[in-house]
Amino acid sequence: MSDTSSHAFLRHVPPADRIQRFTWVERIMHWYTAATYIYAGLSGLALFTPYLYWIAAVLGSGPTVRFWHPILGLAFVVGIFWMHHTWSQDLKLDADDRKWLENVKYYITNEDEKLPPQGKYDAGQKVYYWGMFGSAIVLLITGPVMWFPELMPLGAHWVLPIVTFLHAVAALVTIGGVMIHIYMSISNVPGSLKAMTEGHVSRGWAMLHAPKWYARITSKENR
Ligand code: HEM
Repeated sequence: MSDTSSHAFLRHVPPADRIQRFTWVERIMHWYTAATYIYAGLSGLALFTPYLYWIAAVLGSGPTVRFWHPILGLAFVVGIFWMHHTWSQDLKLDADDRKWLENVKYYITNEDEKLPPQGKYDAGQKVYYWGMFGSAIVLLITGPVMWFPELMPLGAHWVLPIVTFLHAVAALVTIGGVMIHIYMSISNVPGSLKAMTEGHVSRGWAMLHAPKWYARITSKENR
């Protein structure tokens, strides 16, 4: 991409034109959750199918992965609960979000002017978050049963295949979600990654991607 691209422009946002999007605590929280997710996800794939068992070799060994997967899985759920505590108010879906989702075709065809204005996060980001939150709950309930199968009472062994199936479905939902999330935040929305690394966006970015949030912030600034 040439140096006149929006990516290059966003690298040089003058300080007066910057607005804080994420505090350093929020950024640590996000990258902590991402790091624990990546280890739990990759080690989970190694345990999921023999075709992906080579991942266990990359991460140490089979026993190493079996030991750390549930621990990092729990650490990931801690990250999700932390996000829930910090961000869930801004991630609640409102009437504009529901209209946005009904008309999502305009987002895909780049006709954003036909969509209702969005707050700090757009409806797609909110759906992603709630998908991750719901899946994390399912992983949290099913994971410990698979962690200690020997504690299962005799006669209740039929539970294990059901639990294993639900664990895999929830994990696959998160994998699909995270792949879209990474694509959207790194490649599709320039300036977004900078928000999560350096903490700020330009006023132009906020006006374009999060106009209701921008209006809220500027009304506080002008008070
Ligand atoms: C591993 C690579 C990841 C990258 C590169 C990445 C990148 C980003 C970026 C750039 C943002 C800011 C978006 C904005 O300002 O609007 C963001 C937000 C967020 N990230 Fe991630 N992320 C990653 C993994 C994860 C994981 C594993 C989770 C697990 C829940 C997660 C959850 C969130 C949430 C809930 C938000 C706020 C809402 C949203 O933007 O979707 N991220 N991420």
